[in-house]
Amino acid sequence: MRKKIVAGNWKMNKNFDEAMALASEVKNMVNTEVTNNTIVVLCVPFPFLYPVGKLLEGSRVALGAQNAHEKEAGAYTGEVSAGMLKSVGATYVILGHSERREYFKETNTQLAEKINLAIKHGFTPIFCCGESLDQRNQNIHISFVKSQLDESLFHLSESDFKKIVIAYEPIWAIGTGVTATTEQAQEMHNEIRQHIASRYGTSVASEISILYGGSCKPDNAKELFACPDVDGGLIGGASLKARDFVDIIKSF
Ligand code: 13P
Repeated sequence: MRKKIVAGNWKMNKNFDEAMALASEVKNMVNTEVTNNTIVVLCVPFPFLYPVGKLLEGSRVALGAQNAHEKEAGAYTGEVSAGMLKSVGATYVILGHSERREYFKETNTQLAEKINLAIKHGFTPIFCCGESLDQRNQNIHISFVKSQLDESLFHLSESDFKKIVIAYEPIWAIGTGVTATTEQAQEMHNEIRQHIASRYGTSVASEISILYGGSCKPDNAKELFACPDVDGGLIGGASLKARDFVDIIKSF
């Protein structure tokens, strides 16, 4: 059985007090309301990792970061390394989010380095992929997403590849209120799984969790999570409200 995962990506939102209050609310609601075995992750901004991690200690909510640098250490002013993130308690890290690719020009090659270092430090990387609306309209969305996997992940050994969680996030669905239809999500998730199978075999492919992200909300999570190849969600906007986020977790 593949792991079911719901991860919140807070992006660049909340101040310290708000972050602590939200994390505390999520922890308590998950503790009292969630009866399924979904893995829950909160990917919070760097300054909140340590205190939120302390707050989550002993709970079933895991701690994640939203990015990590591709180098081990050194003169990279303003950057944060995988080793640093590990030392403050993060166990998951989002890599290759489309916002990082767009605004910070992260490339597939650079992401391959980030993935290597994250794995070296024992993280579960949540690797994001996904096409633009233009690419979908040109009908090159599937080959584009496959090339993202080829160039950033397919150098990994089988044992390292098995540590990866994939998040399919169509760029046109992020923060837009437009969600992929269940057909669109299932089609791409299945393509991703087939592509993994072509490289690592069907047994590995069947073990990899593939999350959907992009305007996932309490009212559409149930039908998305019911798709055979959708193993959970990477949640942006709706993860900023504890009620909505926990209702999404309960959609399984
Ligand atoms: P929204 O849920 O706000 O569309 O964001 C999705 C996302 O980018 C999660 O990483």
